[in-house]
Amino acid sequence: MPAPSYPWSFPIITGASSGFGAEFARHLAPSAKAIALTARRADALETLATSLRSAHPGLIVHCLPCDLADEGARARLPERCQTLGFTPDLLINNAGLGDYGTFHEAAWSKLAQLLAVNITALTHLTSLFLPLLRQHASSGILNVSSLAGEMPIPDFAVYAASKAYVTRLTEALRIEFRPFGIQVTALCPGPSPTSFGQTAQRRGERLPTAEFARKSPAEVVRAGLKALAAGRPDAFPGAIVWLTSRLLRLLPAPVLRLILSRRPRQARPLPL
Ligand SMILES: NC(=O)c1ccc[n+]([C@@H]2O[C@H](COP(=O)([O-])OP(=O)(O)OC[C@H]3O[C@@H](n4cnc5c(N)ncnc54)[C@H](OP(=O)(O)O)[C@@H]3O)[C@@H](O)[C@H]2O)c1
Repeated sequence: MPAPSYPWSFPIITGASSGFGAEFARHLAPSAKAIALTARRADALETLATSLRSAHPGLIVHCLPCDLADEGARARLPERCQTLGFTPDLLINNAGLGDYGTFHEAAWSKLAQLLAVNITALTHLTSLFLPLLRQHASSGILNVSSLAGEMPIPDFAVYAASKAYVTRLTEALRIEFRPFGIQVTALCPGPSPTSFGQTAQRRGERLPTAEFARKSPAEVVRAGLKALAAGRPDAFPGAIVWLTSRLLRLLPAPVLRLILSRRPRQARPLPL
């Protein structure tokens, strides 16, 4: 199957060192003129950049290592782009992490990291890059949220709440940014095999995931880019994930609370 052609020439992708982020880069590279990759692991970014350059001669790849939890470091990203003569027409706010386990046992350092990357950095980058995105007649923002944002999830409480924020923010900004010619879409995947589960676990326990709802990173990324290009507010990749999202939006809150309180708990809480 030939790679679809996308309308963006200058994408910047956060969390590009692995998982969905690296996949976004591989999908966008054939139609891009220049691409900017950011994450903390500079070596992983350089490895990806090398393979993109050899697969797409003529493509300019910028690696911008950055800890997005560091406010000063992320605030310098637009200036770093401008120094390189790179004005993005697509911002993919993809970097994120989870923390699986009970709230009372959570390490604050990890929760603080989660909130800083999933919520604060995503919001800050949107604000920081807005003036650059507006320099193009049309541009886009793809916020990577999650199906988890559709419901409160015991043992995944902070992560699910962070993604509810991302989805709601996206809906509002979609309306606000329309006059600027900026399309904003939330990509809300269900389970997909990336390093996400490994980063989210605390003591080696596996995240309870619905295997039958799994989609590959390539399928997830394609669904997100397709939805953004089509001007859709969100993408829930895969029929099961999409149906689950519709059901969750229709269920009365008391029914949802009942289901969630009966759901088998797989985190192994330490005794209080
Ligand atoms: N996989 C799933 O099942 C799933 C489902 C729904 C939603 N999602 C969402 O998809 C997004 C991408 O996750 P993934 O599945 O691709 O997992 P992943 O492979 O673990 O990728 C996470 C990315 O975020 C970056 N990141 C984390 N903390 C960072 C920080 N402080 N500063 C800069 N970059 C940081 C990581 O790069 P460095 O470590 O190099 O910094 C990495 O590139 C996340 O927002 C996640 O919540 C994933």
